[in-house]
Formats: sequence, C-alpha cells, structure tokens
Amino acid sequence: MEKLLVKTGCPYEVCVGHGLLRQSGELIRQVCPKARIAAVVTDTTVQGLYAPALMASLENAGLSPVLFAFTPGEEHKTLRTLGEIYEFLAQNGVTRTDCLVALGGGIPGDVGGFAAASYLRGIDVVQIPTTFLAQIDSSVGGKTAINIPQGKNLVGAFWQPRRVLCDIDTLSTLPEDIFADGAAEALKYGMIASRELYKKITEDIKGNLETIIRSCIAIKRDIVQRDERDTGERMLLNFGHTLGHAVEKHSRHQISHGRAVAIGMNLMTALTTRMGLTQPGVSEELKQACQGLGLPTDYPCTLQELLQYASSDKKRAGDSIRIVAAEKIGTASVWTLPFEKLCELMLTFS
Ligand SMILES: NC(=O)c1ccc[n+]([C@@H]2O[C@H](COP(=O)([O-])OP(=O)(O)OC[C@H]3O[C@@H](n4cnc5c(N)ncnc54)[C@H](O)[C@@H]3O)[C@@H](O)[C@H]2O)c1
Ligand SMILES: [Zn+2]
Repeated sequence: MEKLLVKTGCPYEVCVGHGLLRQSGELIRQVCPKARIAAVVTDTTVQGLYAPALMASLENAGLSPVLFAFTPGEEHKTLRTLGEIYEFLAQNGVTRTDCLVALGGGIPGDVGGFAAASYLRGIDVVQIPTTFLAQIDSSVGGKTAINIPQGKNLVGAFWQPRRVLCDIDTLSTLPEDIFADGAAEALKYGMIASRELYKKITEDIKGNLETIIRSCIAIKRDIVQRDERDTGERMLLNFGHTLGHAVEKHSRHQISHGRAVAIGMNLMTALTTRMGLTQPGVSEELKQACQGLGLPTDYPCTLQELLQYASSDKKRAGDSIRIVAAEKIGTASVWTLPFEKLCELMLTFS
C-alpha cells in the first residue's frame, strides 16, 4: 500500500493498494479513534458487491457499522436522498465523534460527503471510492455536493475526508463503459500535467493501472494543496469541462460525464489550436488517444447550440469565461477571455 499525503487545512492520506477493503476497519479506526458507530453510505449496486467485506472489517476493528444504501444514478444525488441520510444517522444515534464512510463511485462520495459536512455541523468522513473516476478525481479534494432541479452540484460544501482508501481490486467489477469514463479523466491529468502519464495511459492503461491511479492522485493533490478553495490554479482540473458540461446538458445527461469530457477536451483543443494557443499536432494526437480508449471525440450538434449551454457554466464570471488550453501534451494554462470572443471563435469554427 502506498500513502499519499494531502496537505490541506486538515491534512489526510490517500491510501492506494490492493486488499484495502479487508483492512478498512483498522485504517478507519486509526483516523477516527473516538468513533463508536461507522455509518456506511453507498448505492445498492456497490452494497451488493463490497458492503459485506467493509462491514465485517469495521466490526473486527471494534466499530458498530450501520448501512444506508440508495438507488444508483445521478437522479438520486438529491436533497431527498440527503434528507433520508440525515434521518438514518439520527435514528441510529450517530454522534459528533462517530464517522461516516462513503463507499462507491462519485455519487455516494459526493452525497455522503455532504451529509458528513452538514450533519451535527460536521462529522468525520472516510471515502472509499470504487470507480476509476472516483479514485482519481472525486474522492480527493474535499468537494461534496448534491444536485437540485436548477443544476448539477449547485449545493455542497468543501469537507476534507479523514482518509481516502483506494482499493484497486474493487475496479475489477467495473463495467467497461464506466471504466472508460475514468479513463477520460485520467487522460485529462496527462494532458494538463504529465506527458509520461499520458503515454502510460495510451500504451497500456490496464497494465499500468496502479501507477496511473497514483500519478493522477498526486497531480490532483499538488493542485488542490496550492488552491484548496478553487479560486485559481484548480481551474486546470477543468480542462475539457466547459464544453463537456455543455455536451452533458445538451444530451440531457444521455452522454456520461467522462465521455462528455473527452468530447470537450477534443473540441476545446481544436479551438485553441486555431487560436494559436496549442501546438500543431496535439489535437490529432489527443483524438487518436481517445479513440484508442473507446471514447468519443465529437458530438453531433452545432457549436452554436453548445454555446447556449456553455454560457451558464459556473466558470463564467460576468462577461468573461475562463478556459483551459493545453499548449502541448503535459502542459496547460488558464486563459480568461470575453465570452463574446469565445462565441465568435466557435461560430467561425467549421
Ligand atoms: N467531488 C468532486 O470533486 C467530483 C469530481 C468529479 C466528479 N464528481 C461527481 O461524481 C459523479 C460521477 O462519479 P461516478 O462515475 O463514480 O458515478 P457513480 O457513483 O454513479 O458510479 C457509476 C456506476 O458504477 C457503479 N459502481 C460503482 N463502483 C462499482 C464497482 N466497483 N463495480 C461495479 N459497479 C460499480 C455504481 O453503482 C454506478 O451505477 C458525478 O455525480 C460527479 O458530479 C465529483
Ligand atoms: Zn470531471
């Protein structure tokens, strides 16, 4: 097992390795020494696969585990599920010194994390991510959220976990399409920060999985440490997301987040190549990499249509919008440009 230290306001470790679920009780006990109850929050699919091993390990470590599982899917990352979790915690007598364990993909991680951030004004949370995307992205960095009818992730809090346990073995049951969503985010890290990582992903993602996961977490860790509250550099992590979110919304969430990010990275890189911000050839290389990973690179709608959706992006501030451009593979920077300018460029793009 390798431990990566994240030095945020309250530092914590991300443990990466095999067989961590079996050791999870002890690993949780070490960081929540006063806890008596461990409230596990998960979805019903992950419950069937991994809750028994987690519950047994928690019991063996002397904790009293209780479990709340909700139906998987973005449509359940809601105020209603959050309310049910609060009631479950209160009914089970969870106190301030107890802990919540969020087990599953980004959805149980986000909603469980937000429940922990707000129940009794905040209790400890340990994240046990079980999707590729959650291991390299959502479980690290302390962002938690739920969706409301007006938009995704509009309500939430920054709440750093006490520890993150990434058990690589749990990824063996992931369906290919969910794995590919994680691959898109991994490629994003390669594009913004490391050509070496990018190479490992494109050459043999499954063979290099553990190293890739560790490198992605280290990149996110370094960026989050420098910009915990997302006011500057953390924007780099949004590479491909401005247009990606637009694709997600336009498709009414029929295109998953990872696939939308792949499309967003490709569209944005084609655009920034035309703007002279990206070196020639990068766009083609990225396209090939995405295709090799089974990810889409284009979306059948005009850029004009997408623009309407990009205009409500959270990264828009007044009349300007921040975009992330990769100069070359492994190096990216944030640019602020007038929203009108982006519209103009997109409209002339054929
Ligand atoms: N907080 C953050 O910083 C952050 C960052 C990126 C994404 N997110 C959020 O993460 C969510 C997407 O994450 P996700 O793709 O992990 O979604 P998810 O939690 O819905 O997981 C995807 C699917 O995989 C299933 N699953 C999970 N682990 C499995 C396993 N080991 N084997 C088999 N099936 C498994 C789940 O039941 C679900 O059906 C979005 O809501 C997004 O907003 C948050
Ligand atoms: Zn993302």
